[in-house]
Amino acid sequence: MKKILTMLLTLAMSFTLVACRTAEESVEIEESSRNKETTVEGGGANILIAYFTWAENAVLEEDVDVVTSPSVVVPGNVQQLATWIQEETGGDIFSIRVTDPYLSDWDACLERANEERGSDVRPELQENVENIDQYDTVFLGYPNWWYGVPMALLSFLEQNDLSGKDVYLFCSHGTGGLANSVEQIVETSPEAIISDSIFDCYEEEAASSEDEIRSWVNDLGYSFSEEPNDRDDTASQRQISVRIDDNTIVYALNDGSAADSLYEMLPLSVEVEDYSTNEKIFYPEEGLDTSNSPLAQGGSGTLAYYEPWGDVVFFYGEYNENPGLFELGQIVSGEELINQMSGTITIEIAE
Ligand SMILES: Cc1cc2nc3c(=O)[nH]c(=O)nc-3n(C[C@H](O)[C@H](O)[C@H](O)COP(=O)(O)O)c2cc1C
Repeated sequence: MKKILTMLLTLAMSFTLVACRTAEESVEIEESSRNKETTVEGGGANILIAYFTWAENAVLEEDVDVVTSPSVVVPGNVQQLATWIQEETGGDIFSIRVTDPYLSDWDACLERANEERGSDVRPELQENVENIDQYDTVFLGYPNWWYGVPMALLSFLEQNDLSGKDVYLFCSHGTGGLANSVEQIVETSPEAIISDSIFDCYEEEAASSEDEIRSWVNDLGYSFSEEPNDRDDTASQRQISVRIDDNTIVYALNDGSAADSLYEMLPLSVEVEDYSTNEKIFYPEEGLDTSNSPLAQGGSGTLAYYEPWGDVVFFYGEYNENPGLFELGQIVSGEELINQMSGTITIEIAE
C-alpha cells in the first residue's frame, strides 16, 4: 500500500509539474495594492509571516536519521524561508502547528496527508494568531503536499481572516511546483489581496535560497531598517502644496502611514489656527494612521501630526520631541510664509 502511495505521489508530482503553469494562469490574482517602496520600521509591526512546515509538525522519533530524513529535522525548508523573510521585514513570525502531529516516517506522513486531502478535513490547530487585525501584510508559506497545500493551511485560513490584507505566498516543493496550491488558497480566502509575485523553490534548493528570497522581499518593497534615522523622508517624492491667497508653501511627505493618510484626504480646505508661538495647526476630520510613522525630529519647517489631540501641525520654530508627535514631511519652499497662515487654506497634491 505504501509503495503504491509513493508511486502515486511521484506520478502526481510529475503530472503537476506539467500542469501547474496552466493552472496558475487560470487563477485571477489581484495585483497587490502596495506598489511603493516601504521601509519597515519599529519591528515591521503590521507584517505577519505565517508558515507550515513538516519539521514542526512531526513526532520526531529518537532514531531518526538526519541524513536520510532531512525533511523532519528543523529547520524545515519552509521554516528556513520564513526565517529569512522575518529577518528582512522585521515582522512577527507564526508557525502553523497541528495538535496531532504527523509521523516522521515519510510513507506514513504521505498516507495520512493523502487521506486528509481526500476527505477534505481541517486538522485542528494548536493556536491561532493573536489579533490578526493588527496585520495588513501577510507572508504565507507552505510546502506542496499532494499537489496542493497541507490541509492545516486551510484550517489556518478559515480561522484567521486575511480579507483585505496584502498576501505574499512562498512555497517549497518537489518536482510538482506550486500545482493547485494557489487556487486552493484563493478559493479559501477570496477577499485576500493575493499578489501574483510568488516565491517558490525546489526542495533541494531551499537551504541555499537566502539571497533569492531576500531579493524577492526587497523587490516587493520591504526592507527592515534597524536604524530609525535611516528613513529617507523624501524617497517617495510626494509633494503637497499649501495655498494661502496667492502664495504657496510646498512640503515633501515622507513614506510613513500617517503621511499616507493625509495624502489620501487631499484636496482639503481647512481652517488654520494659531498654537503657541511656533505652530499653525488644523484638525483633519479623521485621525491619521500612525502605526508605521517616524517621530517628528526635523526642527523648524516640519509638518507633523500630534496624535493625542488629532491635529496637523506646521512648525515655524523649533520644538521638543514627543512620543505622540509624528513627522509627516519637511518643508521644500515657502518656509518664511508659514507664520502668516490664517483663515481658510487649501492643501493639494503639488503638480
Ligand atoms: C506529505 C507530503 C506530500 C508531498 N507532496 C508533494 C507533491 O505533491 N508535490 C511536490 O512537488 N512535492 C511534494 N512534497 C515535497 C515537499 O513539498 C517538499 O519536500 C518541501 O520542500 C517540504 O518543505 P518542508 O520541509 O518545509 O515541510 C510532499 C511532501 C510531503 C511530506
